[in-house]
Amino acid sequence: MSAFPVFDPASSLARPITQLTSITFWLGLGVFLLVAGLLSWFMWRYRHRGAGGEPAQIFGNTRDEVGWILGAVALVGVLLFLTVRVAGQSSPDTAGPNPDVYVTAHQWYWAFRTPGGAETAGELHIPAGRRVLLDLTSADVIHDFSVPQLARKIDVIPGQHNRLWIEAAKAGTYAGECNEFCGPQHAWMRFRVIADDAASLAGAGPDSPAPTLVAGSAAAHGAQVFREVQCSACHAVQGQTSDFPHDGAVGPDLTHFASRQLMAGGVLTNTPANVQRWLKHTQQVKPGARMPTLPLSDQEINDLSAYLEALK
Ligand code: CUA
Repeated sequence: MSAFPVFDPASSLARPITQLTSITFWLGLGVFLLVAGLLSWFMWRYRHRGAGGEPAQIFGNTRDEVGWILGAVALVGVLLFLTVRVAGQSSPDTAGPNPDVYVTAHQWYWAFRTPGGAETAGELHIPAGRRVLLDLTSADVIHDFSVPQLARKIDVIPGQHNRLWIEAAKAGTYAGECNEFCGPQHAWMRFRVIADDAASLAGAGPDSPAPTLVAGSAAAHGAQVFREVQCSACHAVQGQTSDFPHDGAVGPDLTHFASRQLMAGGVLTNTPANVQRWLKHTQQVKPGARMPTLPLSDQEINDLSAYLEALK
């Protein structure tokens, strides 16, 4: 992943924005150097040298004033023209086609769902070299979807469906984050976009089989705990929790959880030790998260993490 994503565009949708940023920066720097240079020059050239009385007092100069007003208007006009052009290039028409992925923002994680019903969280898989149309809405407050290398950013608003094209020219992993302050864990509302050469959209397909759990194993016991302590009241695992209808509005879908790189909105890398830490100290790891710290025994935590890490 890029250290300076804003300056490292990886798509034809993001490149014009980076170019506009550079043009604006260099133009601004030019204006600054001109003004600061002239100011310094005048301060030195017309400094008080101890002789003579008060200098000539000048009020206004029509030629100079018209000059700098027109100059400033011309500069702003050029920037306006470039900005409108870039806005068109980075936001192609979204009216026609059906969305490829439905994105729902939650405090504080991102859910991604395909029209076929596959759902995942925190990680969006897209095919490289193809534009993907997103439909974005929020389950609670206003968020903002931003993957600087792949597209413009866009507000994600409850009750409204915004649309956005994203594209990765090459295979790779691209950092995404929420860009609108949305509560105490706003900074931990991150996600990754993973572009591969033959990725299925979002995550795995909707009917990819759920793993078979060996009877009597820690994972099988974990599955039982998952139902009994009602993890499944908030989290769906497709193929495993169909008896607990999931309204998709509470916690992240955990189908194929084990195949994800990060968890809990990017606050932890996905390892068995971190899953256990999360289950044990949820509210310390991510204060304010909707998930309470559950009264689980060490054995239950161990088995739950075995179960979750079996969901490949
Ligand atoms: Cu969601 Cu900030």
